[in-house]
Amino acid sequence: MNMSAKDNNTNTNIYRSYIDALLYPEQNPFIEDMKRFEELMMMYSCAIKEVQTKLDVLNTDFSVRYNRNPIEFIQSRIKKPVSIATKLSSKGCQVSVENIVYNLNDVAGLRVICSFIDDIYAVAEKLISQNDITLIEAKDYISHPKPNGYRSLHLIIEVPVFFADHTRNMRVEVQIRTIAMDFWASLDHQLRYKKDVADPELISGRLKHCADVISQTDLEMQEIKNMIYGDGAQPQI
Ligand code: GTP
Ligand code: MG
Repeated sequence: MNMSAKDNNTNTNIYRSYIDALLYPEQNPFIEDMKRFEELMMMYSCAIKEVQTKLDVLNTDFSVRYNRNPIEFIQSRIKKPVSIATKLSSKGCQVSVENIVYNLNDVAGLRVICSFIDDIYAVAEKLISQNDITLIEAKDYISHPKPNGYRSLHLIIEVPVFFADHTRNMRVEVQIRTIAMDFWASLDHQLRYKKDVADPELISGRLKHCADVISQTDLEMQEIKNMIYGDGAQPQI
């Protein structure tokens, strides 16, 4: 293969950039971006810790006062890099640290599983009324379920996180639902992955029927609880 002086120069430049990237990683834009991405993910995971602690405190306070836990358990997750990139692309945005912060609300997510429907609203109300929490958006899929039967209360909140040299308001998505709603959503999520089913409408109809049966059970369990603890005397956290 004949190489011109120009090719040689190009190759030399590529090698030089590569060696520079290894020798001086702090001057390499890709490595810089990766570092900023890692730092942002660290910030989101700290925001999750802040909100998790707030919810743990509410649950502990409630259990001491009323001998009952409104929260059964809490799950949390940071959105995976591939899902972040896919969601940004679907919104027509380039993948950058700035676009993640300004366009995505659910990089940090918590799922709060409550015992009864009333507990969902009590926990949400106590969380968003805290001085340092800003409510950005609330979607009540319990009073207005999705057409497929999905039920949950979704909150997008901002929480300040105190880092070593600065404070930053971080966005967190909080999904609050009962054990029954969570049971349905988990199975719905699993089943939705399989696309090539024989009769999708029949399946959707049956799933919707299950969601309605489960919802009815949630209402009955709430009534039973009210019979035991008293209706208006529903202890507010
Ligand atoms: P996306 O976050 O892009 O989905 O849009 P959005 O923010 O408008 O959605 P929304 O707040 O309605 O729901 C976001 C999350 O709720 C999803 O990522 C799921 O975790 C959950 N969710 C919403 N709808 C369904 C559903 O029909 N079934 C299940 N299993 N989960 C759902
Ligand atoms: Mg969302």
